[in-house]
Amino acid sequence: MSEPKNTPHSSLFTPHCLLVTGGAGFIGANFVHYWLKNYPDDRVVVLDALTYAGNLANLAPVENHPGFRFVHGDIRDYDLAVNLLQDEKIDTVVHFAAESHVDRSVHSPDAFVDTNILGTHNLLKAAKKVWLDSPQSSSHSPQSSSYRFHHISTDEVYGSLGPDDPGFSEKTAYAPNSPYAASKAGSDFLVRAYYKTYGLPMTISNCSNNYGPYQFPEKLIPLIILNCLEEKPLPIYGDGLNIRDWLYVEDHCLGIDLILKNGMLGETYNIGGNCEKTNLEVVNTVCAILDELKPRNPQTSDLSPQSYASLLTYIKDRPGHDRRYAIDASKITSELGYVPQKSFASGIRKTVEWYLANQDWCQNVIDRNYQKWIEQNYSQSES
Ligand code: NAD
Ligand code: DAU
Repeated sequence: MSEPKNTPHSSLFTPHCLLVTGGAGFIGANFVHYWLKNYPDDRVVVLDALTYAGNLANLAPVENHPGFRFVHGDIRDYDLAVNLLQDEKIDTVVHFAAESHVDRSVHSPDAFVDTNILGTHNLLKAAKKVWLDSPQSSSHSPQSSSYRFHHISTDEVYGSLGPDDPGFSEKTAYAPNSPYAASKAGSDFLVRAYYKTYGLPMTISNCSNNYGPYQFPEKLIPLIILNCLEEKPLPIYGDGLNIRDWLYVEDHCLGIDLILKNGMLGETYNIGGNCEKTNLEVVNTVCAILDELKPRNPQTSDLSPQSYASLLTYIKDRPGHDRRYAIDASKITSELGYVPQKSFASGIRKTVEWYLANQDWCQNVIDRNYQKWIEQNYSQSES
């Protein structure tokens, strides 16, 4: 088969029936909320294995929506994937499901290879069978296709930047440093290969660090919020000067929406928040917001409360810790009109407010097998 070429025809695609893998996790759930709010007549089927990171409570706001269905299952189950694509007449796969936490990939990399590489390959095989190989498939030309496979990837595949390097662009060479990043890189290459080899109509987005409601508190921002509320140490790896480009989760959903509808098939788009911050800046901002919204109890009545920032504790660095990530989002901005809507100041405040207002959600998460991880990751972490 000759290699497919990009044409502007792909900008006319309109998703109607979506399979969202990993929709019970942090970004997947936010995406499902976003989609059904903006496109209430669409069908959204979530496929999620409900690992430690998956939580049905994340989907509670949409559970009674007529277009919504939840399927408890594994992306590595080929028959299930084929049946869902066929029975639900899925036209769009938005593939979030993954093992997503770098520290866990340092402790136990196998699950990352299994889910991120083999699981993605399984979905690709299923999509190829249903969309391209069945007798009903009218055309093998992806440009005229009425299907989309959108793969969610990460900026971590590009490795680490020096202080003066330009941000990662879509042309930056892959140089993954953690087992997590390597497994995501592997899955990206498989998605690309299914386009180049078989013409599977796909797009990929590589985004920076998301934050917002429903994020599992193994990740920096919710971990810090919950530790503040429990008066626990706030663990800072190394010198706290590693830099991430923070992206409010709803802005990520907006970027995916633009790609699904207007993105060129076979292309990758980087999505960032244009918001580089050191970990110390992030943690100090969270502490300052909590000092204002939920001040600590003063030790004695004649003292004013101490800042949560006094709980900061420097601990041993993460092995292979990438120093700096930054996204050059000029391609998605110039081609698809993407502009992040949320400033860090308002996004982080909204996030802290959400965790304060959803203490039941936090308690439920903490009760579910969370303490074991905290003990495993932080017990021998003195700097
Ligand atoms: P998450 O860990 O919060 O959620 C992952 C979801 O996938 C969970 O609901 C889990 O149950 C499900 N899942 C895991 N293995 C599965 C399997 N075998 N079958 C079916 N479901 C399975 O992750 P997240 O932070 O929401 O990340 C979503 C995607 O975005 C991932 O692909 C991740 O690599 C990517 N990403 C995340 C960030 C970020 O900042 N969180 C940034 C860039 C890219
Ligand atoms: O860049 C995108 C990536 O962002 C995604 O691909 C990953 O799925 C997502 O988990 C996230 O990876 P990070 O490793 O950047 O996120 P994390 O929240 O784990 O850490 C953010 C920074 O904070 C990082 O420099 C490590 C540091 N950190 C993290 C934890 C959990 C600490 O200093 N202390 C901590 O306890």
